[in-house]
Amino acid sequence: MATYDALDSHSPSRASPFGSGDPYYNSSTGFVTPATPKKSASKWVRFGVPAGVLVIAGAVVAAVLATRHHGHSSTSSNSDSGNPASASSAISAKNAVGVYPTGTDSEFMVPLYPSTTNSAAFSTPTYNPSDAALEWPQDSFAPSNPAPTSIRTDRPRLIAPKYKWDALPSRIASEPYLKYWNQTIFQNATTYYSLPPVVYFMDGSSGILDNAREIKMRIKAFSYVARMTNDTKWVDRAWAEIQNAAGNGTTSFGPATDKWNTAHFLDTAEFSAAFGIAYDWLYDFWTDDQKQQIRYTLNLYGLQPGVSVFQGNAAAIGWWATNIYGNWNCVCNGGLTMAALAIYGDDTTGNAASLLGYTINNAKQNCALTVTPDGTNNETANYWYFATTGHAEMTSSLITAAGSDFGLLSVNPNFNLTGLFHMHVKGPTSLFNYGDHGPNKFSTTANSMIFYASQYNAPQYALFQRDQADAAEPWSMFWYDATTTGAFWNGLPLDHAFNNNGDQWASMRSSWTDINALYAAMKGSPLQGHQTHGDLDCGDFVLDALGTRWAGELGSGDYNAPNYFDSEAQNATRWLYYRKRTEGQNTILVNQQNQNVLANPTMTQGSSGTTQGSSTVFKPSSDSTSFVVFDLSSAYFNVTSFSRGLRLLNGRQQVLLQDDINAAGSVMWRMHTNATVTISSGGTSATLTLDGQTMQVQILNPPSGATFTTAQAVRLAGDPALPSGATDQPNPGVTVLTISLPAGQYSLQVLFNPQWPGLQQSNYVTPKSVPLSSWSLTSHN
Ligand SMILES: *[C@@H]1O[C@H](CO)[C@@H](O)[C@H](O)[C@H]1NC(C)=O
Ligand SMILES: *[C@@H]1O[C@H](CO)[C@@H](O)[C@H](O)[C@H]1NC(C)=O
Ligand SMILES: *[C@@H]1O[C@H](CO)[C@@H](O)[C@H](O)[C@H]1NC(C)=O
Ligand SMILES: *[C@@H]1O[C@H](CO)[C@@H](O)[C@H](O)[C@H]1NC(C)=O
Ligand SMILES: *[C@@H]1O[C@H](CO)[C@@H](O)[C@H](O)[C@H]1NC(C)=O
Ligand SMILES: *[C@@H]1O[C@H](CO)[C@@H](O)[C@H](O)[C@H]1NC(C)=O
Ligand SMILES: *[C@@H]1O[C@H](CO)[C@@H](O)[C@H](O)[C@H]1NC(C)=O
Ligand SMILES: *[C@@H]1O[C@H](CO)[C@@H](O)[C@H](O)[C@H]1NC(C)=O
Ligand SMILES: *[C@@H]1O[C@H](CO)[C@@H](O)[C@H](O)[C@H]1NC(C)=O
Repeated sequence: MATYDALDSHSPSRASPFGSGDPYYNSSTGFVTPATPKKSASKWVRFGVPAGVLVIAGAVVAAVLATRHHGHSSTSSNSDSGNPASASSAISAKNAVGVYPTGTDSEFMVPLYPSTTNSAAFSTPTYNPSDAALEWPQDSFAPSNPAPTSIRTDRPRLIAPKYKWDALPSRIASEPYLKYWNQTIFQNATTYYSLPPVVYFMDGSSGILDNAREIKMRIKAFSYVARMTNDTKWVDRAWAEIQNAAGNGTTSFGPATDKWNTAHFLDTAEFSAAFGIAYDWLYDFWTDDQKQQIRYTLNLYGLQPGVSVFQGNAAAIGWWATNIYGNWNCVCNGGLTMAALAIYGDDTTGNAASLLGYTINNAKQNCALTVTPDGTNNETANYWYFATTGHAEMTSSLITAAGSDFGLLSVNPNFNLTGLFHMHVKGPTSLFNYGDHGPNKFSTTANSMIFYASQYNAPQYALFQRDQADAAEPWSMFWYDATTTGAFWNGLPLDHAFNNNGDQWASMRSSWTDINALYAAMKGSPLQGHQTHGDLDCGDFVLDALGTRWAGELGSGDYNAPNYFDSEAQNATRWLYYRKRTEGQNTILVNQQNQNVLANPTMTQGSSGTTQGSSTVFKPSSDSTSFVVFDLSSAYFNVTSFSRGLRLLNGRQQVLLQDDINAAGSVMWRMHTNATVTISSGGTSATLTLDGQTMQVQILNPPSGATFTTAQAVRLAGDPALPSGATDQPNPGVTVLTISLPAGQYSLQVLFNPQWPGLQQSNYVTPKSVPLSSWSLTSHN
């Protein structure tokens, strides 16, 4: 395993590790926390004894709760409840280990897990509710007939009711993650404290969304620290941010009317959420005058426009409320709901009550359906963050304020699978980040995983997320169940096939806990139905090994480019931009033409079913494998037949990518990489070097004329012209590895051999040639 310090030397000049979607990165100003230069690594504070030396007696293999986990209101549902000794030993083992990862990789911001075997701490994911010091107390507010406007009488109402605040200090004292997060939130709030209020910036098609989310992020931190300290300096600082966003600060904030930019309603909704949180969490600190001013501004710029949307008076700003199965619906309904719940009862306009009559049903019919039947997000892996944050904030606020999720968790019976999507779409270095990456995240995180863990009795979701760099924020303090124990990887399959009419994609890896692990993911998936955030990318794949990404994505085009979002139709302007075109993906290009937007791929997948065990040190057995084959004939205009397959070889140490194609037009194999590429003299093999590591790539049984060449990641000569004045974004550092063949019938087999330290050349395998139609788990033995 690469050490922390070695990783610190990764390409310091590299841009944002997650493209423009990086939670800590702002494309114009760099990392949002000036105190944290992007090159520096954030070594995580560790509590407790070094994990590597711990051996705790008495392995605990507690079964996962059989019923939905309801904050432990019923301990009898826990298989462990009859055995407090084993429960407490699991918790003491967990507390002794502390925060598992020893730090984050500075390039990819992923957790670095120490090499350790600890069957007591790294047991099957579970809850151990026998520990009263860690369990949340029971909420005394439990209406028998909940209604959105029958709201609890104490404050706060949103996400963090008073009984949880009261219980929090003792839980922080006895739980390492809560302790670490609390400390980080204080640090973050201290950083924001000394910054001037957020400066107004109108960013074309993304409006003032960055402003709204940055303000929301700050308000959450200030409000948290204010309540934890009773120090009014935090309340005053929150007020300065509120005044600023109301246009009453020391510098101007947008136009005189419509300050929250209803034309891009996400902005309006995120400002509304921020004001709602401030109003509710700091309720006891505000004067009546301040409360009146917050309500006034909130109604003027947020809730009144929201009511207009639902009353059908504002189609132009309210398109997101009708048949939109994407993040817009979640974020807009979520922000309006939080704000309405916050001021309901004090609100004299009627807007709050009116909105609560609309938003919940609307989100059930739209937002809840952003999750496809296998858990995949309807848009992209990055847009999942926005959709689930909106959904989780809204649902959690309704549960705490009004005592019910009102169906938001159950109306889509497969919503609970979305955590599985997030885990499998995330490779050891970064997301399988197909399609658009979305705007900067700021207040948006993956902490919905922690909320869904408790709501759906899926402790592995919280165990996965609590180790991530974005886990430390106020919501986690209240969503996290401190009795969560075990290891998310224990018993988790390495592979998963996501396969239904809306999407077909597969993920495979060699370990869940090693940044150096091999990871390969490939998609078929229809090219329409993604809210215009997809690419023409059937057959696209990413490949991680040796702590870096060898085959990667180019990400978003310029959201402000002419007609970038015009449609998903074949003739859309969107498909003129290189990053969205088929040639901009890691797939086959036929006749230099974009894929057919009506593609209807099918997928076959096989897996040895390998699961990781308790240890973070894991080596799959030599027969452990996985493969996926897509029939992509329908994605092309000029092919008679085309299947693309990907499989792991040699105990998941090597990868074979095979294209069996019969095409009437020219065939071009393309892969985008940040590596430096050197092609052998014969042209059938290439050496890729990146981040101090090496990958050998070889064409097996090369068809006549098949050789590697390299190209720049730019549009091809002969492509249709871009709209006048438009340009493609540059892709600095990216090389396209290509193989070009004339029309014909081929089996194109490309073998990837990561140069693993300690693996002799004689231990690499050369697979036999097997047609994709004959691939099986044992076809390459
Ligand atoms: C939370 O973190 C702050 C800053 O480190 C610390 O002063 C405070 O004591 C912590 N709260 C608890 C309850 O431990
Ligand atoms: C919060 O603080 C931590 C620890 O100082 C830092 O690594 C992280 O970048 C900060 N996050 C934000 C969003 O400022
Ligand atoms: C803050 O004030 C409230 C209300 O007086 C009190 O209940 C709470 O214990 C105080 N918290 C701290 C950290 O002083
Ligand atoms: C901002 O100023 C306007 C005009 O004086 C006032 O009506 C409103 O309440 C103020 N809002 C806030 C949040 O201070
Ligand atoms: C999702 O819910 C279904 C139905 O309750 C259940 O069978 C399944 O195990 C759950 N999946 C996960 C990953 O929690
Ligand atoms: C997105 O969700 C809607 C509603 O469930 C569905 O009709 C549509 O086919 C989905 N799109 C994809 C790509 O799954
Ligand atoms: C190149 O590296 C950047 C930064 O880590 C990443 O965003 C991008 O996806 C990578 N590109 C490819 C083609 O791997
Ligand atoms: C695409 O074709 C449709 C239907 O013919 C037409 O309405 C639309 O304007 C065309 N779009 C572009 C960008 O050419
Ligand atoms: C490729 O497909 C296009 C669109 O269907 C068609 O116009 C063209 O003639 C085809 N070319 C070949 C070489 O088959």
